[in-house]
Amino acid sequence: MLTPVLSRGWGDTDSFTLEGYRRHRGYEALARARAMDPDALIALVKESGLRGRGGAGFPTGMKWGFIPQGTEGQAAKPHYLVVNADESEPGTCKDTPLMMANPHVLVEGVVIACHAIRASHAFIYIRGEELHVLRRLQHAVQEAVDASLVGDLRIVVHAGSGAYICGEETALLDSLEGYRGQPRLRPPFPATHGLYASPTVVNNVESIASVPSIVLGGAAWFGSMGTEKSKGYTLYSLSGHVKRPGQYEAPLGITLRQLLDLSGGMRDGSELKFWTPGGSSTPILTAEHLDVPLDYEGVAGAGSMLGTKALQCFDQTTSVVRAVLRWTEFYAHESCGKCTPCREGTYWMVQILKRLEAGQGTEEDIATLLDTCDNIFGRSFCALGDGATSPIVSAVQHFRDEFLAGTHTPAWELFPYRASARWGGALAGAQA
Ligand SMILES: Cc1cc2nc3c(=O)[nH]c(=O)nc-3n(C[C@H](O)[C@H](O)[C@H](O)COP(=O)(O)O)c2cc1C
Ligand code: SF4
Repeated sequence: MLTPVLSRGWGDTDSFTLEGYRRHRGYEALARARAMDPDALIALVKESGLRGRGGAGFPTGMKWGFIPQGTEGQAAKPHYLVVNADESEPGTCKDTPLMMANPHVLVEGVVIACHAIRASHAFIYIRGEELHVLRRLQHAVQEAVDASLVGDLRIVVHAGSGAYICGEETALLDSLEGYRGQPRLRPPFPATHGLYASPTVVNNVESIASVPSIVLGGAAWFGSMGTEKSKGYTLYSLSGHVKRPGQYEAPLGITLRQLLDLSGGMRDGSELKFWTPGGSSTPILTAEHLDVPLDYEGVAGAGSMLGTKALQCFDQTTSVVRAVLRWTEFYAHESCGKCTPCREGTYWMVQILKRLEAGQGTEEDIATLLDTCDNIFGRSFCALGDGATSPIVSAVQHFRDEFLAGTHTPAWELFPYRASARWGGALAGAQA
């Protein structure tokens, strides 16, 4: 069953305008929230069970509650809300369509969240390459300002420079302050010493965009969807060898099998070989896991993580070694270089995987690969390092034979590049 809330008006031609948003009760929640005491608002979000949609699933209301209140010490400093719209995890593609189709739900969420945490300044940090999103959001903020919807609040839409590490919340804060984006040592945490060393909430786009519906529908309504510990609806991004890739908004706890049924399934001739539940930093799963509930607990129970709910589905024509190499090249490129295990380890893992892809690896290479992962995991400064090991360790666990084949046969012979079912006709025609 699909539960379109955030995506409800996406089909409208004017879904991104203030007028279009108002047709779907846009900004009604804001009026209601403004009449509420900020602490009651935080209590409502806590009660709803909303968990951060940026990957880690941290309870949003609890995070808001960490902002020190009062008139002394850190509490006396300005409070900030920072929306993390960096979205660079491979496979993750939910925040961009959300901001393109309905930027106002994010703006409304920002104004409500700022009321709750008593902030008078908000920043939306957008991935640098996404000029179209930047323009759309700036326009929406201006529309809201002109309609006197944001009050005294200042909302700055900021463009990053296109670095994956700037999605890590403390690197994002450094970047926003004008420094090179590298993670900060914690503690202290952003809740007390965030942007400009002041109390700061950093939340994902989808987390903040979910707030207006909670204010309008109530905590019980939100909690009536999802599972006991993972409540509400969410955006699942389906991609890869599937018939109808896209955003599917459904209750937490739906399974990949159900999502594939709803979306037309795998492409003709394709069988599911492996998939990521939440982007490339989450251990891969296989067809065995089609019935795993896609909530935080269910996916953890299957040995992976829900992450960003980016369901990338790969069929039998895909070389696992090649896919893992591509991801590892990404991590090596995006490693910020601050700590040795990640900076050096990702580089060496690429070299080993290249040998295995070319059929020139050795069994010792596979052992060295796993040993390197062991030395990165838990020993890196931030979660990028841990994430870089996830696809490798899980792929060797599920597809060891393919890695062993990399000691004698190139991946491109075992899994020849082919014109895909989708583009096959055109490519075959072009080659003829
Ligand atoms: C390397 C790396 C990249 C990340 N990229 C993003 C991102 O693009 N967007 C995001 O919301 N969170 C990202 N995160 C998670 C953030 O650090 C943080 O947990 C999140 O913004 C908190 O928001 P939430 O509580 O609403 O989920 C990333 C984390 C790491 C380690
Ligand atoms: S784990 Fe990687 S990305 Fe994170 S701080 Fe270390 S070098 Fe930088």
